[in-house]
Amino acid sequence: MKRVALLGSTGSIGEQTLDIAGRFPDRYRVTGLAAGRQVEKLAEQVRRFRPEVVSVADDEGARELRQRLAGDPAPEIHVGDAGLTAVATCDADLLVSALVGAVGLDPTLAAIEAGRDVALANKEVLVMAGALVLRAVRARGVALLPVDSEHNAIFQALAGQRLEDVERIILTASGGPFRTWSAERIARARIEDALKHPNWDMGPKITVDSATLMNKGLEVIEARWLFEVSPDQVDVVVHPQSIVHSLVEFVDGSVLAQLGLPDMRVPIAVALAHPERLPLPLERLDLAALARLDFEEPDRARFPCLDLAFEALRGGEDAPAVLNAANEVSVAAFLAGEIPFPAIAAVNGDVLSSHLARNGGSAMNELDDARAADAWARVRAGEALEKHRGRHA
Ligand SMILES: NC(=O)c1ccc[n+]([C@@H]2O[C@H](COP(=O)([O-])OP(=O)(O)OC[C@H]3O[C@@H](n4cnc5c(N)ncnc54)[C@H](OP(=O)(O)O)[C@@H]3O)[C@@H](O)[C@H]2O)c1
Repeated sequence: MKRVALLGSTGSIGEQTLDIAGRFPDRYRVTGLAAGRQVEKLAEQVRRFRPEVVSVADDEGARELRQRLAGDPAPEIHVGDAGLTAVATCDADLLVSALVGAVGLDPTLAAIEAGRDVALANKEVLVMAGALVLRAVRARGVALLPVDSEHNAIFQALAGQRLEDVERIILTASGGPFRTWSAERIARARIEDALKHPNWDMGPKITVDSATLMNKGLEVIEARWLFEVSPDQVDVVVHPQSIVHSLVEFVDGSVLAQLGLPDMRVPIAVALAHPERLPLPLERLDLAALARLDFEEPDRARFPCLDLAFEALRGGEDAPAVLNAANEVSVAAFLAGEIPFPAIAAVNGDVLSSHLARNGGSAMNELDDARAADAWARVRAGEALEKHRGRHA
């Protein structure tokens, strides 16, 4: 029986993780659940999975949860950042880290330091502090299992291979909802347009990141740390059908890919069951019915966020944390209707350039370096937003 704790249980990845765990009650026992504000959904999950420890965003949420669970055996209820860490370090073999954004960094690191294996969906953790996370993973000898479908595909393609034989990692990108839109049309994109992903049903932040291609940029950074490759060894190719989830090219020219229908429950199951596989009764890939797979170069002019990620990777260990924080601020402003879609890339670019001009890129030696880069970038992004605020169509 594998004991599993889950951060972000009410989100898209969180619910799909519980879907898998719930299908195999003889294999998985859910011991901890952390959510933010969706208390009603969390209460249902608590009734179904009976975790020992749970966490919500604040005291009001904790009160509501207690009321909703009245009459049921109540778990330990924690709140806020300390609550996330309590769940991350509760009695478990594996933490599924599926919060969104920088808030996931501290609890995920705490779990690693407490010796838990981690299934990582919350890519911002590696983007912010890849060097620190990898150091902690090595020091504690825990497994870091990628849930992101692209990295999970690479993880599968690398099974039994030596990292030193890898020449190139090729991340596939759907291209998002604006792949075929002109720059002029993208400039007028509405919030609901950006939230219409062609292939995946995901939380709002990653869906907007997919529309700007910032998501692929964050994944480039994530791949650099997970697979210990240089930025020059990571390529991106647009593949609108999202069937080939990513590829690895080896020094002899062989290319291994992982394919499947776009369903996040597959990579989640791979991470939950590693090194075994779970029998999942999901729809199967029918190549003849599909008939064709298309690939094209990403358009770096219409989607400048992709190159910002490469720039950040080459700009010192703290530059990705700066880019990540700027992006969290600009995406939140876009989703609040405060800035037009192209201002996301403009704000991200402004903040990254001023960071690189300021210090030329520094090493990340401790968590405070990541926190400082993050905090500086949020202030600077707030200033950059002022230039664009109110121009939303
Ligand atoms: N969704 C996908 O298919 C997918 C695919 C690949 C990678 N990822 C990555 O996986 C991560 C999660 O994505 P998602 O799409 O599942 O996001 P989501 O649907 O927005 O869910 C986010 C989860 O985090 C919780 N949360 C957010 N801020 C919190 C805070 N301050 N305190 C406590 N809980 C908080 C939310 O709680 P409440 O809702 O209760 O407030 C929710 O449970 C992201 O890093 C994303 O890039 C997602």
